[in-house]
Amino acid sequence: MYSYYPEDLIEEIRIGNDIVDVVSEYVKLERKSKYYFGLCPFHKEKTPSFSVTPSKQIFYCYGCGKGGNVIQFIMDIENLSYIDAVKYLADRIKIQLPEGNSAEEIEKAKLKRELLNINVEAARFFFTHLNSPQGEKARQYLEKRNISKQVIRKFGIGYSPEERERLYNHLRSKGFGDDAILRSGLVLKGKNGGFYDRFRGRIMFPIFDIRGNVIGFGGRVTDSSLPKYMNSPKTLVYDKGKNLYALNFAKNSGEKRLIVVEGYMDVISLHQRGIINTVASLGTALTESQGRLLKKYAEEVIISYDSDSAGQAATMKGLDLMKNIGCNVKVLSLPQGKDPDEFVRNNGADEFKKLIDNSISLIEYKTRVLRKKIDDGTAEGKIKFLNRIADELSRLDNSVEREMYIKKIAEEHGITWEALYSEVYRRLKPKSDLKPAAVNLNSYAKGADKKEDRGEDGRIVHDERLILALLCVDNSIYASVKDKINVDSFTDPENKRIAEIILERLENNKGIVPGELLNIVDSAVAGDFARIFNTECHCDDNKKAIMGKIRSIELFKAEKRQKEILELLKDEGSLSEGDVEKLKLELKSLIMMIKKQKSS
Ligand code: CTP
Ligand code: MN
Repeated sequence: MYSYYPEDLIEEIRIGNDIVDVVSEYVKLERKSKYYFGLCPFHKEKTPSFSVTPSKQIFYCYGCGKGGNVIQFIMDIENLSYIDAVKYLADRIKIQLPEGNSAEEIEKAKLKRELLNINVEAARFFFTHLNSPQGEKARQYLEKRNISKQVIRKFGIGYSPEERERLYNHLRSKGFGDDAILRSGLVLKGKNGGFYDRFRGRIMFPIFDIRGNVIGFGGRVTDSSLPKYMNSPKTLVYDKGKNLYALNFAKNSGEKRLIVVEGYMDVISLHQRGIINTVASLGTALTESQGRLLKKYAEEVIISYDSDSAGQAATMKGLDLMKNIGCNVKVLSLPQGKDPDEFVRNNGADEFKKLIDNSISLIEYKTRVLRKKIDDGTAEGKIKFLNRIADELSRLDNSVEREMYIKKIAEEHGITWEALYSEVYRRLKPKSDLKPAAVNLNSYAKGADKKEDRGEDGRIVHDERLILALLCVDNSIYASVKDKINVDSFTDPENKRIAEIILERLENNKGIVPGELLNIVDSAVAGDFARIFNTECHCDDNKKAIMGKIRSIELFKAEKRQKEILELLKDEGSLSEGDVEKLKLELKSLIMMIKKQKSS
């Protein structure tokens, strides 16, 4: 239905990926008794209403209502389909998945492998050519920039010969087909139908994925001609916005922080000097995927872009992005006109490490940029500056931090402490009045119960879900309700489908747990199930709760049928005598049953 993988395998993958671990890669969680709480990654908030319940292996946001198990979490946060989320999680715990059984899937997997093989072969080819007579110019260039032999080997740096189709011919000689070669992006098709190499006469930097596969290349000229760099296009295995150069090395640095620089040369230069917790975003502003990747491997991210205006704009964007996905982020500022490579070459690793330690926070960075932009020689400028800074300060979540910066910034910029303080708190007041002080599970649960304006039908759908949830929370209650419910007891089609699976499981003593229930529900209702698990399955008396709900469903159905019959009997003339008799009999037993239900 959702995937062609066997149920057991999906369950193995779900169990293998502890939801607290997985969510922690994206959200900073804090334990509060049986739950973990953090800021919801799916909507903007300042007080945490996003919960993870380890015992049930589910997440649920009391603010936006998103919820589910670890698979739905990955679907939502990584924007993946169900199947791709399962694949992602399988990969995370190194479970080998059987290849998809659709012809298309198998074809795609095969092509991906082939593209990786082509890339490795090309990397070898380039590396060999760097050390051939043709690579002379490139070797000289690298030497001029003091790049060591070891680093050249570590990063697999190479050289692409000038000839039009050296690489193409080489790949053909290794048995690769034209279609795959073309799709690797290493070769282009000419107007006359012939093939020619994309990279010619360039120093080649292989780009690795996190596991060290070569997924693409960047190629730099050996002089000052343009364009300085050419890069692999987007292919089946490479998407520049989703990778970070050198993360495969940096992730093993043992450091809690990662430094993001702009270019290949910056990374290489820093690595050569022992600063290996460095990655490059490859010339573009950070993307959200890159941000999440960083967050996964670092507790703190330090952005160190060039100090030119493009670099500054990219820094600002990167800061906001990292902050929004809940990552601690700082800025390393370089002296005017320098990039990390130049700086570390001229001043050495220790001086660069000092800059790392002196990195400034988002708010300090914004203040400095604003200060430069606004002319505070005039009263008008001063007021504008004060207002903008107050805006920024009021956005800080932490009041200790806020007050510390109010003092610091006021002092640095010749504003009185009180003036800034009152501006900041003036902005804070209205918002903080609206926010609940802390998440109170009970009040939320009550709030959810109050949503009885769901309508009768909505209520029944909900009661059915509660029954299904309770059965998963406590499989043992099945024994006492098995005579009272079957698949047909459920009215909602999705509930019916789920009931069929659950009842079959329980009937055969196979068992099912909350997290597993979420494997089989439609992702559109996963949030609702997660809410029910968190707020309505209290585990004190599940049997009583389920009995109550079964009764209320029976009652609901009986009353509905009663209404129907009364409607039919209004037009008695159009019915046969026999039918009228039958309906009246049914009505009688319904009335008796309703009476009995209501009095019990
Ligand atoms: N870049 C690119 N295409 C260009 C220029 C730059 O793709 N025409 C990307 C490259 O990934 C490059 C990064 O942007 O590494 C940063 O650019 P730049 O600072 O100009 O390059 P460096 O790597 O620092 O190279 P160098 O020090 O040799 O100038
Ligand atoms: Mn540079």
